[in-house]
Amino acid sequence: MIYDFEFYNPTKIYFGKNALDSLEKELKNYGENVLLVYGKASIKKIGLYDKVINALESTGKKVTELSGIKSNPTYNQMMEGARLVRENNIDLILAVGGGSVIDVSKGISVSAYCEEDPFEKYWERFERLDNKIVPVASILTMAGTASEMNAGSVITHEAKMKKEGRVFCSEVNPRFSILNPEYTYSVPKIQMVSGVFDVMSHLCEQYFSGEDDNTTDYIIEGIMKSLITSTRKALVDPLDYEARSNIMWCATMGLNKITGLSKTQDWEVHGIEHQVGAYTDCPHGVGLAIVSIPYYKHIYSYGIDKFVRFALNVWNVDAKGKTKEEIAQEGIQKMADFIVEMGIPTKLRDIGATEEMLRDIAFSIAEGGGYKAVTNEEIYEILKECY
Ligand code: NZQ
Ligand code: ZN
Repeated sequence: MIYDFEFYNPTKIYFGKNALDSLEKELKNYGENVLLVYGKASIKKIGLYDKVINALESTGKKVTELSGIKSNPTYNQMMEGARLVRENNIDLILAVGGGSVIDVSKGISVSAYCEEDPFEKYWERFERLDNKIVPVASILTMAGTASEMNAGSVITHEAKMKKEGRVFCSEVNPRFSILNPEYTYSVPKIQMVSGVFDVMSHLCEQYFSGEDDNTTDYIIEGIMKSLITSTRKALVDPLDYEARSNIMWCATMGLNKITGLSKTQDWEVHGIEHQVGAYTDCPHGVGLAIVSIPYYKHIYSYGIDKFVRFALNVWNVDAKGKTKEEIAQEGIQKMADFIVEMGIPTKLRDIGATEEMLRDIAFSIAEGGGYKAVTNEEIYEILKECY
């Protein structure tokens, strides 16, 4: 651990089959006006909506609802939520859903009392948060983003064709998050595996950078192994509680700061995916899976020792008689095989991208990277390989 760090994560986690029992106790800590934010239909189908409404009613809350939050939540939905917060003098924003619902809730929190265009101020110019915010809490229904325990908010501005992520200060973290792995049983398979690869990608973004002997890298390897093992079990039996709970906790751990401590990081795959998402509206983890393999094939030789370590420690590649180059390539191939095993599409053309889009996407992405900084021209080449 060679870089100094400060670590603070204020989100209180309630995890397990009875986690929702703590909702009423927590609600008592906030004023009476609650904005309940949720997606399209899933929380009603799984009976969670009724339980949440019961808890809100029995604690005397006045509830305003914002429903229909779409996957890859939009600027317009965020601004609608901000208006509801002001008009109803909201004391708590309760997000019930996946990363999109939680992200937009944080976006609403920071936007409601922002006196200028919040997207321009916070997501484009990355200015420091300097207006009043409204507390957010979450009940998570799908594993992947770790939005339940971080201050990130990714918003798609449709008119600008931009999907932009912003990590705020820890005051924006959910104050508490309720995680019951049973809620994830009903997640459609494509969304489940999209979430799993999102976790894998968060871990890769943090792992594939730096050459120091860092405790964090050992933690990441452990989480990757748990994620792979439990995903294989959950694919066979989606109702396997142990597997679902491991996946859920791997997801939260994957981006709650712990797996980034004292590390340089990459995040270029996410930068590329966000713009792929802005153009195609694909599930986030699916876009990441498509981009990751060509990207890592492009950069691995600049960080070969780490890619060898990944192959040996995460994928158990047999090193006997092989060069570093061969071992590293085999590790990347194992990850590619895992993507296919999960049934995730592997080409941009499978998710509605057209060849004409590729150049525009490539040149709308900020250049950067970990072991190797990639230019827009290189990103364009990578996207052509993904196509
Ligand atoms: O709208 P409903 O009906 O709720 O359906 C949702 C949605 O269609 C469904 N779903 C969720 N829980 C379910 C369920 N269906 C059945 N049963 C359940 N229990 O799943 C679909 C996808 O949900 P969504 O919230 O969009 O998925 P995810 O959690 O992957 O979130 C994706 C968003 O998070 C951003 C992504 O870019 C994307 O916009 N990210 C946020 C991050 C953060 N805050 O730190 C980091 C990530 O890297 C990521 O960028
Ligand atoms: Zn992600």
